[in-house]
Amino acid sequence: MTGGRTIQSDYMHWAKFKPPVRFPLTSSEVPYFRLDSLPLEIADLDLDGASHPRYAALRERIAARYGVTPEQVVGADGTSMANFLALAALVGPGDEVLVERPTYEPLLGAVSFLGAEVRRFDRRSEDGFALDVDHIASLASERTRLIVLTNLHNPSSSLAGEDALRALADVARRSHARVLIDEVYLDSAVPPRRSAVHLGSEFVCTNSLTKVYGLSGLRCGWILAEPELAERMWRLNDLFGVNQAHQAERLACLAFDRLDEVLGDTPVMLDRNRAAFNAFVNARADLGAMPAEHGIVAFPRWAGGDTDRLAAHLCERYDTAVVPGRWFEMPDHFRVGLGVPSDLLEQGLERLAAALDDLA
Ligand SMILES: Cc1ncc(COP(=O)(O)O)c(C=O)c1O
Repeated sequence: MTGGRTIQSDYMHWAKFKPPVRFPLTSSEVPYFRLDSLPLEIADLDLDGASHPRYAALRERIAARYGVTPEQVVGADGTSMANFLALAALVGPGDEVLVERPTYEPLLGAVSFLGAEVRRFDRRSEDGFALDVDHIASLASERTRLIVLTNLHNPSSSLAGEDALRALADVARRSHARVLIDEVYLDSAVPPRRSAVHLGSEFVCTNSLTKVYGLSGLRCGWILAEPELAERMWRLNDLFGVNQAHQAERLACLAFDRLDEVLGDTPVMLDRNRAAFNAFVNARADLGAMPAEHGIVAFPRWAGGDTDRLAAHLCERYDTAVVPGRWFEMPDHFRVGLGVPSDLLEQGLERLAAALDDLA
């Protein structure tokens, strides 16, 4: 922070440079998809010297997959840049922005970086981190420009259903505000849910091929918004990234053409892993969590208190890592990644059990 304005993400820095371990239950994405399993020749990726602004082929594929028009799609480097671009187009200094708590820290940091005035609404552990629309309505004012949340919720994977989102749109409309939803985990809902962009022009939604598709390195992200707003974001991006790496865009097109193959048996693995996690939590009196039904991460509460202590012990003694809850402003919780191969998850959970027993 400087002068009250966030200028870095301590969480991202920690996430990138934490010590490697054998059982990394810190991960929030599924195992990477090997691009060399696609019918691909290097000539397919050759650059032709032309510039491809707003690369139509990729926009059309994203639009087709998410049931919108290409005019509603804005490309960006990952959900990260999609979030920043959307926020930069929607808020400025002094605007009031309501941000969920707990949340993905870079979202909060970006709002603060843009000079907006942040107010928080709570998603309570006791309520399964559900959206409390009445609580949000009680905080909204005529100065509220934006409401920011993740769906599925990071860190808990709680799903906000369409009724709650429609009620939230009413709250936003009364303030002439919009709702930014980071949907990077939504395609791992069970069963899959459609983007909130279909629920009204208040919604601006971001996503990427990172978490659910195992293609984080492609940095293929996007924003879905109404066409006039999408156009503003494209124009704003001329100040930031201008264009995306074209080879990555072409690889992303290939991935979109075979998205079922890219997903493979990941949904089956996630189902199995959620069941293993639920059985693990149910067997322990010192942990509490809503049953994992959706998503790639879970966020149990530990009766032992500060989970920095747990994470440190787990790492030192058991070569295993979880994300301590302090990164989500809830130190007595921790985040467990369920997107790892099932045998690795099982061994990681065994180690977690041993660490919890040591500290009991
Ligand atoms: C809610 C949320 N949004 C965005 C990202 C980053 O996504 P990407 O790799 O597509 O930039 C993450 C990664 O942890 C995330 O949890």
